[in-house]
Amino acid sequence: CLTAQAASALRDSEPMFRYEEYADIDWNNLGFGLTRTDYMYTSKCTQNETFQQGRLSDYGNVELSPAAGVLNYGQGLFEGTKAFRGEDGRIFLFRPDQNAIRMQIGAERMCMQSPSVQQFVDAVKQTAMANKRWIPPPGKGSLYIRPLLIGTGPILGLSPSPEYTFLVYASPVGNYFKEGVAPLNLYVDDQFHRATRGGAGGVKSITNYAPVLKAISRAKGEGFSDVIYLDSVHKKYVEEASSCNIFLVKGNVISTPATVGTILEGITRKSIIDIARDIGYKVEERSVSIDELMEADEVFTTGTAVSVATVGSITYNGRRVDYKTGDELVGQKLYKTLVGIQNGTIEDKYNWVVQI
Ligand code: COI
Repeated sequence: CLTAQAASALRDSEPMFRYEEYADIDWNNLGFGLTRTDYMYTSKCTQNETFQQGRLSDYGNVELSPAAGVLNYGQGLFEGTKAFRGEDGRIFLFRPDQNAIRMQIGAERMCMQSPSVQQFVDAVKQTAMANKRWIPPPGKGSLYIRPLLIGTGPILGLSPSPEYTFLVYASPVGNYFKEGVAPLNLYVDDQFHRATRGGAGGVKSITNYAPVLKAISRAKGEGFSDVIYLDSVHKKYVEEASSCNIFLVKGNVISTPATVGTILEGITRKSIIDIARDIGYKVEERSVSIDELMEADEVFTTGTAVSVATVGSITYNGRRVDYKTGDELVGQKLYKTLVGIQNGTIEDKYNWVVQI
């Protein structure tokens, strides 16, 4: 059900809210491309003020000053969260409060104003419900919701922007990788680094993403799915892939690199850690060397866009290691539990799911 604020925002939005059950697209072939949906949410604030009440409007282009902080100095953060449709038609969000908190932490790092947790979650709910006909049928994918926080005020000298815009849009998505659910082939790039100590690698700054495009394009050109980055000091410890966190399984122990400022605190990452511990695995968050990763029984990646993906091979320094794949993997067991919680078929004892 809609909150009173969401209902009034929907009433105020132009043109009339569209009521069809499903948009007319091919739900069987969703990848991770952008599909234009109906509505987006926008709210603004000036420096040291709180964000004004946001509103829904038709999805469309935004007008920006050429001197906007985000365009000139990259002062911006983004988030990713998803809405799922259950078999019985109920709509669920997954831990949107965690995205809100992560945005606040990122905003502090980037000297930006940020929306309250309540405003963030409400904006995500409004955007999901206004675009309900774009939420895929059960089992076909999800509505990927992209909150953005950007410095939109004009600024010439290097300092925080005088105005911020909080914007939320959405697109139906299927699998993130073109491989679909097939195992990923990852390439370890020891020339490019994603983040450095003291940098902004631990928050979801937009500035963490364009610099890895070169490494990704090179790896994709050679047939790999994504790149694994190593730490920039020792060039030895695994950090994360361009779009997801990494886990390895050895016996009954699951390990993942500790988030020590250079690695994104993934919400799927921490959910998988909790689920794994609850079903009896020992989970270690610590430094993981590339040699250890190459020796693992099984490797998988996690992320909002990616969900949980099996890694079939890793190539490092000219050597390729192939891992176990198949339905019996630990990663697959965790994936099925996570997806079951997200779409309402497995009891959510964690209180992670928000029905809207
Ligand atoms: C997500 O998983 O939501 C992300 O933000 C990763 C992005 C590269 C698609």
